[in-house]
Amino acid sequence: MTIDLTFGGRVRLPLITAPMFLVSTPELALAACSAGVIGSFPAHGTRTRDDFERWLQQMESGIQVMRDKGLNPAPYAVNLVVHPSNKRYPGDLALCEKYKVELILTSKGAPNDAFDRIHQYGGLAFHDVATKRHAEKALKAGADGIIAVCTGAGGHTGQQNPFALVHEIRQLTDKPIILAGALGTGQDILAAQVMGADMAYMGTRFIACKESLAADDYCEMLLQSQATDVFETSALDGFPASFLIPSLRNTGLDIEQLKRMLPGDKINADTVKKRYAGIWASGQGCSKVTTRESAVTVCEQLTCEYQTAKQRVMTALV
Ligand SMILES: Cc1cc2nc3c(=O)[nH]c(=O)nc-3n(C[C@H](O)[C@H](O)[C@H](O)COP(=O)(O)O)c2cc1C
Repeated sequence: MTIDLTFGGRVRLPLITAPMFLVSTPELALAACSAGVIGSFPAHGTRTRDDFERWLQQMESGIQVMRDKGLNPAPYAVNLVVHPSNKRYPGDLALCEKYKVELILTSKGAPNDAFDRIHQYGGLAFHDVATKRHAEKALKAGADGIIAVCTGAGGHTGQQNPFALVHEIRQLTDKPIILAGALGTGQDILAAQVMGADMAYMGTRFIACKESLAADDYCEMLLQSQATDVFETSALDGFPASFLIPSLRNTGLDIEQLKRMLPGDKINADTVKKRYAGIWASGQGCSKVTTRESAVTVCEQLTCEYQTAKQRVMTALV
């Protein structure tokens, strides 16, 4: 089955706003959807299952209000951590079934029965991977698309070059590939498609949006940052992740000491827990965020840049 990535014409820019813990909100997702971009949030971004259900209701009613006004909003997506360590997973998946969430962004672990259950109610599942091996496993289990998280991504990051990873995944499948890692402009979206992906996935670009939960200090730090201000380490929770260096320093962490840590070394878990609120994630694309705007404005700007880039490339190639 070929997947219609425009979702019947509702998606007008091949972009998903990536789910971000303690950053994404229904307001941000709805703003993206209104601009023809797939908006998302993580189920675990809510404190309880009741809160998660309230967010789903907010999405459903927000989308309905737009439709009643004659608009044609893009669908929204929910991020589910499909790993046995996520105690909320069974109940959160049941809520996605109840609300028939059209697109689920699955991450971590073996999806077990998740893909079958999502397919049974007519939903699609795009699984987040950082290597060809994990893509292979997800495809075998029935994923409808692969989110290729490459080097330079914010939060938990991949470590492979995008040209290498997209190629390796494309050798496995014709299904959609959604590219993530330091993308932040309309040109980047087009570049992702040219290199063999189908859609782009952007997190960092949306952190400083007015609808985000990110603290003002976090947004201000992001606006002042460039790629060299981003540090990748596995020492916090065992998985490679990218953070803003000044935020690591502000919480008392020593970058030189982090650099000397060996694979598998982790800093004291209590220290991390106590300070986690002040450690701020960012991808290397942070310099593409220069102002605090609404997500609608960002999506409109990306759409404009994407169209201009397409024109420029077509003219240049003739
Ligand atoms: C602050 C922050 C929180 C994140 N939280 C999640 C999360 O809860 N679930 C998830 O699958 N990915 C999470 N990510 C990763 C993003 O979904 C996405 O893969 C990443 O932002 C893409 O790279 P970019 O930031 O360079 O655009 C997070 C990223 C950031 C920056």
